[in-house]
Amino acid sequence: MRLITCENYDEMSKIAAYMVAGQIVLKPNCVLGFATGSTPEGMYAELANMHKSSYLDFAEVKTFNLDEYYPIDRANDQSYYYFMNHHLFSKVNLKPENVNLPNGAAKDAAAECVAYDKKIEDCGGIDLQILGIGNNGHIAFNEPGEELTAGTSMVTLTDDTIKANSRFFASEADVPKHALSSGMATIMKARQIIIMISGKNKNTPLKKLLSGKITCSVPATMLNMHPNVTIIADKDAING
Ligand code: F6R
Repeated sequence: MRLITCENYDEMSKIAAYMVAGQIVLKPNCVLGFATGSTPEGMYAELANMHKSSYLDFAEVKTFNLDEYYPIDRANDQSYYYFMNHHLFSKVNLKPENVNLPNGAAKDAAAECVAYDKKIEDCGGIDLQILGIGNNGHIAFNEPGEELTAGTSMVTLTDDTIKANSRFFASEADVPKHALSSGMATIMKARQIIIMISGKNKNTPLKKLLSGKITCSVPATMLNMHPNVTIIADKDAING
């Protein structure tokens, strides 16, 4: 695992955006895996700027997001589709048919999850996966526990995650209790992974990730088994 240490959030966002842009330049029809949350917002803003000012071309790029709340309609302003549209999709020339998130309005959630993993495989797999990390060490919504799930599946969010995500909702009670989330194998099959880590409250999961120990109680530690992971972390996350 490589660790890139950044002064602050802005530098982390720029470096991650350069790496995504590099991937697009090297392989214009690449498959990108995206995350939502506060951590990648600055990176999406940088990518939108690169598209506008340097014509970074997303015309042939395909994207797959890690997760979506369930049940939720994509028009709901709390949906991850809405988030992605607001921060990136509406600002670059991605083709609507090339952007993918699990469908939070699917009637049959299990069938949706199987179809989502199949679609990723049919597209040739993810070239570059962007991840954030939860305060409890989750990646996507693979929450700490005795077991982890390999494929995309419906998950129950932990109280920790509901609390952390309540900042985006009117109240904690409004946070959906379930999500459709990429599984650990879905993530580990990506050819390259970047995990962005910012802020003092991420110091504990970052230290666990860097310890080299692997445990289901900190799902991100599984990344120690992947051959091509780059951690881009700011000093607040590193020093705590
Ligand atoms: C979001 C996701 C989550 C977040 C994590 C960190 O798609 O998969 O694992 O990356 O909860 O969220 P922030 O960046 O808001 O701290």
